[in-house]
Amino acid sequence: MTSASRASSLTVLVLGADGYIGWPMTMHLSRLGHRVVAVDNLARRRWDREGGTYSLLPIKSMPQRVRRWQELTKNAIEWRRADLTDFAAVDRLFAEFKPAAVVHFAEQRSAPFSMIDREHAVFTQVNNVAGTLNLLFAIRDRVPDCHLIKLGTMGEYGTPNIDIEEGYLDIEHNGRRDRLPFPKVPGSFYHLSKVHDSANIHFACRVWGIRATDLNQGVVYGVGTEDTALHPDLSTRFDFDSIWGTALNRFCVQAAVGQPLTVYGKGGQTRGYLDIRDTMACITLALENPAERSECRVFNQFTEQFSINQLAELVSLTRAQHGLETAVSHIPNPRFETESHYYNAKHQHLLDLGLKPHMLGDTLLDSVIGKVAKYAKRVDPVLLAKPSVTWKSGGNEVWKQYSAKGGSSAIAGSAMIRPGFSQTRAKAAV
Ligand SMILES: NC(=O)c1ccc[n+]([C@@H]2O[C@H](COP(=O)([O-])OP(=O)(O)OC[C@H]3O[C@@H](n4cnc5c(N)ncnc54)[C@H](O)[C@@H]3O)[C@@H](O)[C@H]2O)c1
Repeated sequence: MTSASRASSLTVLVLGADGYIGWPMTMHLSRLGHRVVAVDNLARRRWDREGGTYSLLPIKSMPQRVRRWQELTKNAIEWRRADLTDFAAVDRLFAEFKPAAVVHFAEQRSAPFSMIDREHAVFTQVNNVAGTLNLLFAIRDRVPDCHLIKLGTMGEYGTPNIDIEEGYLDIEHNGRRDRLPFPKVPGSFYHLSKVHDSANIHFACRVWGIRATDLNQGVVYGVGTEDTALHPDLSTRFDFDSIWGTALNRFCVQAAVGQPLTVYGKGGQTRGYLDIRDTMACITLALENPAERSECRVFNQFTEQFSINQLAELVSLTRAQHGLETAVSHIPNPRFETESHYYNAKHQHLLDLGLKPHMLGDTLLDSVIGKVAKYAKRVDPVLLAKPSVTWKSGGNEVWKQYSAKGGSSAIAGSAMIRPGFSQTRAKAAV
């Protein structure tokens, strides 16, 4: 099948469609004329309730979002509630829809969440690794030509003291040469789950001839796409707390409510970043230019690199243009990470496919700060200011205080975190 015919109108499963990126992606692909099946088990809303966290921008339920989208655009989205760790449910989806492509966002994606305690670490790895394995088997047995587009993270690589390549490294060792997966030294049990996924996907491509694109994505920012702008009911989530929010989101909210920007440690931690509109574009490019059969293609999906100090400075400068002064405060780093290091990651493949990046300019930051300022009253100052998980000892007093308020643990009853895990038991548990 050529990429042109693939691009015309495809049946695409968007897994994790209720999430921050999954919801705008669902609308984007629907706008482009694809048949989109939106799948999620709504776990993220339960994890929020467990930890007392929430989206600063109010978000609607999936049925409400889908109804509003259809009413405004006349484009259909088919919504299915399903859990990827439930193989029978995954298999039914593949048997029913025979998708040409799957865009897979449906994982537990917080590093601090995976570091709370043993249960959260085990849960994260089983949820993510078993969910992805189930997908690989469903593709092999139901639709072997299906293109798996899987969201990984730049955090899989860690911060090596050499340039980071796109997935593979040409190595010469003791006089012999080979091209091997790039070495990975990730920084949390969450990031490790993505590394395990990558190894499983690479294996399935080699052995079963599956076609896959593994997107090592940088940190995504922004909430505005042309589709979320259509109506407040189509908003996507915005997280600002220390478990789900990014440093940039935290800084935008701190600036909006006039609090000092809290930098973890020295602030030299450097990562790749991209605008959510570029995430839409990158995934669309991957979809329209599919990997070959047996190919496990890896793209580093980000557009710019920043250190945490540079982000704090950008937010301060944005506020200074309105005559506002912003303090920056360095607090003890709850994570275990290098705070000053070399970082140079390649990100050429998506540019070669035609990506035209949006850069993190003052306009974007100003609009994000302006948007969150409207919801300043919803900001919980403790969730905003205090990290609730440390890498050395797990969930601290803030986590305990908020999870006690949240009631029963969203994962505590899960069969996955007890010895003797099986898929059938997991089905009942999650
Ligand atoms: N947001 C970022 O900056 C960023 C950066 C790099 C990579 N990523 C990756 O992109 C993907 C999407 O991120 P996001 O920020 O939208 O996350 P999110 O938490 O907002 O969304 C993930 C969605 O997946 C669903 N989900 C989780 N486990 C599931 C399961 N077993 N079955 C069905 N649904 C399940 C959740 O309910 C949630 O709605 C994740 O895989 C994440 O690791 C995100």
